[in-house]
Formats: sequence, C-alpha cells, structure tokens
Amino acid sequence: MSAPATRTPPTAEEIAAADGRATFDDLRPHLDTLVARYPARGAALLPVLWHVQRSRGWITPNSVAETAAYLEIPKAHVEGVITFYTMFQDAPAGREVVMVCKTLTCRLRGAQDVIDALEDHYGIHMGDVTADGKFKIEAAECLGLCDMAPCMLVVDKARYGDLTPESAVKSLEERS
Ligand code: FES
Repeated sequence: MSAPATRTPPTAEEIAAADGRATFDDLRPHLDTLVARYPARGAALLPVLWHVQRSRGWITPNSVAETAAYLEIPKAHVEGVITFYTMFQDAPAGREVVMVCKTLTCRLRGAQDVIDALEDHYGIHMGDVTADGKFKIEAAECLGLCDMAPCMLVVDKARYGDLTPESAVKSLEERS
C-alpha cells in the first residue's frame, strides 16, 4: 500500500460495544471528583478524557458529545483536543499501540519503506487496527529517537530502531 493512507471509520457495532462498557452516568461519580480539583469545569478536559478512554477503550462519538455537555464546553473543543493529542484514540485501539516515525530524519533513512511494509504485511492503513486486534499501528511525528532512525515505538513497552521493512514486520510478529 502506498501513502497517503486513510483511516477506516469505526463500525456501528464497535461504537455500541465501547459505549456499552460504561454509561456516562457510571463514569460521573469519578468525573465529579476530577472536576472538583479545577477552578473551571472545562479545565478538567484532559483527565476527564483519560477516564472516559480507560473506561470505554477509546473516545467514541457519543463520548465526545457527552464530555462536552458534561464540561459545558463546545464539542469542537473536545474534538480538537482528541485530534491534537495522539494518546487519545478516536477509533478502537488494538491491544498495543505502535507508532512509526514518519518525520524527516526517519524518512531520509527509509521510514516510508517501513510503513509500506507494515501496511502490506497486515493489510491495513496507518491508523487502523490489525485484523486480529493485536496492534493499532499509526504513523507519528518525531518520537525523539532520531539516533535510532528509522524507528517505531510500542507505547509504554518497547522501542525499535535502525529498522528495515523486514525487521519492522519481524519485531511486531515476535510480540505475539
Ligand atoms: S525523526 Fe524519527 S524519531 Fe525523530
């Protein structure tokens, strides 16, 4: 597959499954304790989103609307924060989140070949979850590991550098 890649939107079933893990009323008691720490409701947006994501697995469209209403802020503001911070997932995440650097240093050392190899091997586009649900693989801006370029990060778990298309695929396959 070749860039530019597009993301596969979540299905109605995936959205219903995530929303079904916890109603917003279930979340509200803990959210109330978070909001109480801040002088204004809207200032609690990041911790509130963290709790919603931990509870539902990812930030569903309903989560955006409910969070905005709960914090009394515009929906567009919540959407902007989710778009800006890559740690928030707006689609079902795999068991492990893999970030592949696509920024200049890595790109000059073959990052696009690594991305193409991962997309081809798993039959997905960057930003998608693998068919077995094991990984969500996304292209990312500089990971701060330029000395290991081209590189990728399994969030909170491992980092891989000096990648080739083959070693990138092998590294993830060995994480089963
Ligand atoms: S450019 Fe890839 S880690 Fe910095």
